[in-house]
Amino acid sequence: MTAGMDAVKLMKQEVGRAAASRVQSGSIVGLGTGSTTAFAIQFLGDRLKSGELKDIKGVPTSFQASVLAKQYGIPLTTLDEIEKIDIAIDGADEVDPQKNLIKGGGAAHTREKVVDALADLFIVVVDSSKLVDKLGTTFPLPVEVLPMAVAPVMRAIEKLGGKPELRMGVKKDGPVITDQGNMVLDVDFGAIANPVEMEKILNNIPGVLENGLFVGVADIILVGEVKDGQSSVREF
Ligand code: A5P
Repeated sequence: MTAGMDAVKLMKQEVGRAAASRVQSGSIVGLGTGSTTAFAIQFLGDRLKSGELKDIKGVPTSFQASVLAKQYGIPLTTLDEIEKIDIAIDGADEVDPQKNLIKGGGAAHTREKVVDALADLFIVVVDSSKLVDKLGTTFPLPVEVLPMAVAPVMRAIEKLGGKPELRMGVKKDGPVITDQGNMVLDVDFGAIANPVEMEKILNNIPGVLENGLFVGVADIILVGEVKDGQSSVREF
């Protein structure tokens, strides 16, 4: 592992710990997906184990989140059983200065949007490499699509000026299949001038389940940074 990779891991760990420390006993917690949130889930489990935190329930945003929650001893619940989510912790692939996000690098953005949008407080955990001036400049926009609608949705996206690519599996031949049994298009739009409009336009294409633009949903962005080998977390 290179020194650079260590620094990224350290940033993710520290920001995950910072977010987990904001959860209070008795809370319903939205559990996000990805490598940064995985640390937050681990630290929540540590706090439960030590007795510092009591009586929380997690709402997982993916199969990964539910596996990790079970591994770290966090009891789970579903949206059928609760009325509200107190706090959600989730990662992001890009964050702009208005706290708008691109999510879906792990193909979990559809369930993430449901859970994160329901939370009274949505905390985003990222390392500093995720901060951008304009969404779409470093990461293509993920769009979850019904398998039978992939071809027409690709054509509709091309008409909007995007370049869609069907996301392919790693160590599995063929496309990535989401936790809901759908497929994902990664769309290069370049810099997205109007994320508010783009989110609506994409979700209006028949066959699109959800896109990875999270506009006006995030409350707090916690950013992990490493300078001169020292890690710190700042609120953005
Ligand atoms: C999952 O689909 C994504 O929305 C993740 O939350 C996002 O990709 C961030 O993941 P990392 O924390 O692994 O970078």
